Amino acid sequence: MCGIIGYLGSHEAAPFLVEALKRLEYRGYDSAGIATVHDGALDRRRAVGKLVNLSDLLVHDPLPGKSGIGHTRWATHGEPSTRNAHPHRAGHVAVVHNGIIENFRQLRAELCELGAEIQTETDTETIALMVDHYVQQGDSPRAAVERILDRLEGAFALAFLFEDEEDLIIAARKGSPLAIGHGYGENYVGSDAIALAPLTDRITYLEEGDMAIVTRTSVEIRDSEGQLANREMHEIQKDRARVDKGGYKHFMAKEIAEQPQVISEAVGHYFGSSGHEIRLPSDQLDFTGLDRVVLVACGTAYYACLTAKYWIERLAGLPVEVDVASEFRYREPPIGENTLALFVSQSGETADTLAALRYCRDKARRIVAVVNVPESSIARESDVALPILAGTEIGVASTKAFSCQLTVLLTVAMEAARQRGRLSEERQADIVAALRGLPARINLALDFEEVTERVAHELAEARDVLFLGRGQMYPLALEGALKMKEISYIHAEAYASGELKHGPIALIDPNVPVVVMAPRDALFDKTVSNMQEVMARGGKVLLISDRKGIETAGDGIWRSVEMPEVDTLLAPILYAIPAQQLAYHTAVAKGTDVDQPRNLAKSVTVE
Ligand code: F6R
Repeated sequence: MCGIIGYLGSHEAAPFLVEALKRLEYRGYDSAGIATVHDGALDRRRAVGKLVNLSDLLVHDPLPGKSGIGHTRWATHGEPSTRNAHPHRAGHVAVVHNGIIENFRQLRAELCELGAEIQTETDTETIALMVDHYVQQGDSPRAAVERILDRLEGAFALAFLFEDEEDLIIAARKGSPLAIGHGYGENYVGSDAIALAPLTDRITYLEEGDMAIVTRTSVEIRDSEGQLANREMHEIQKDRARVDKGGYKHFMAKEIAEQPQVISEAVGHYFGSSGHEIRLPSDQLDFTGLDRVVLVACGTAYYACLTAKYWIERLAGLPVEVDVASEFRYREPPIGENTLALFVSQSGETADTLAALRYCRDKARRIVAVVNVPESSIARESDVALPILAGTEIGVASTKAFSCQLTVLLTVAMEAARQRGRLSEERQADIVAALRGLPARINLALDFEEVTERVAHELAEARDVLFLGRGQMYPLALEGALKMKEISYIHAEAYASGELKHGPIALIDPNVPVVVMAPRDALFDKTVSNMQEVMARGGKVLLISDRKGIETAGDGIWRSVEMPEVDTLLAPILYAIPAQQLAYHTAVAKGTDVDQPRNLAKSVTVE
């Protein structure tokens, strides 16, 4: 979602701001802008569409100044347009904002009574107008920001710049993440470590309700009570700064190809380099006295949770409930003291997941997070944060984070089963051996790219695609359909194979390809029957299975993609590869924007 950058330094700010905004492109945006102060004068440039439009504008109409703020906007209030793009300016004040101000209508009505001229449909403009109003009344910039912060309802990360103040940015956060970067004679503000990474390796994350008064040589942080706050300074891991495509055409292609490596790192982290001991903090993760586990997440992370339900229930015999975070938080479900609540999030900043976590605080026995960003809000607010170790994921469509989430969730399921006396030493050793062998199998699956690419060209002609899976492959079918729709814009739906004849079978015709994800496991024969039902009605089946599966499926299969054999427990991780490749190559064939699909944001920090 919206990206924020702020720069106070000794160089021209505009090139730094635009470069930083480029690094934030992955979050998803529809317009961009920057503001600077030069010789005391505040000015801004904004452009709708891709950043190149802003860069072009700056070539013809440069913006001098050594202090500035910048923003990539993902529209919430008001269409994507230059007028609605940030920074918003009113008189002496410019502001950039990530989040939603829920009481902006009330503020706007007040401003109208004061005679203010409203120029945009955004919630953010009201902040600029109100702060300028306070400044006109004689408040210092800092006092004016403090006054508005007291009045804002909703979620926000904000950065302010002021006329006549060339050495000042005021930043504040509530609900949306924001970080301060520390330089030498320079300081920075950014929505995440990626924005700041090449500028500095020292950053401080603001906490809920914090306000930071930033100059070139100082950073003063105040908490929500206005007290001076001491926040830890972090060293950014080196790999965070690496956001290049590494020779691939798209970040998504690179991230798909990285899966053998990142999964091998996750397996090494949770099982060591040899043996089959599970390395989880078992003193903090006690599954013995639990009567239930609740898993909550959004999107792809939710599908990882659905898969984990099969694993935890089967291996540990522990009942599991899975919910999408946006539903969970408002349903107000009862959470007993013998419940473990587990939240899965790549970014660790998803607003709904974070709110669901807060709902469970003081209710659940333990709050566990499975996250990719260790400094994220979800990681910091949980009792135990388990890293998925996927490395930075830039492609909006989640790929390597999904397979790493599955790897960690399977580890959790094994630990639960072990503690509850339901996992024999022998079976544990078998699963760990299979996990150690998984990267090699994923490499083999990646080698089938030519096949998936060929089929994808045919799928690109379709208007609708169905995905089917049974048992633990059902969530993967859901994930395959999500990947397909989000980057190729083809309508894709997934069903549990057994549900087909309860309605969706009416959709079957020769123009609707049906992707069946079915390793030769205990449920395979049942899935074959469902495939026959599709083929009997003229449907085209693309079967993704292992060699035996493809051989026994019989004649009439339209296309097939052969996967290596794998311990069936691990099939959802391995079969994620062809699901991702199919979506990727279909999108490439259709010529869509693979890494930044329309309307989507990487880190969804609003409800
Ligand atoms: C889909 C995708 C999204 C995210 C969802 C949750 O490819 O990436 O569905 O999975 O927005 O995001 P996180 O995991 O950051 O909480």
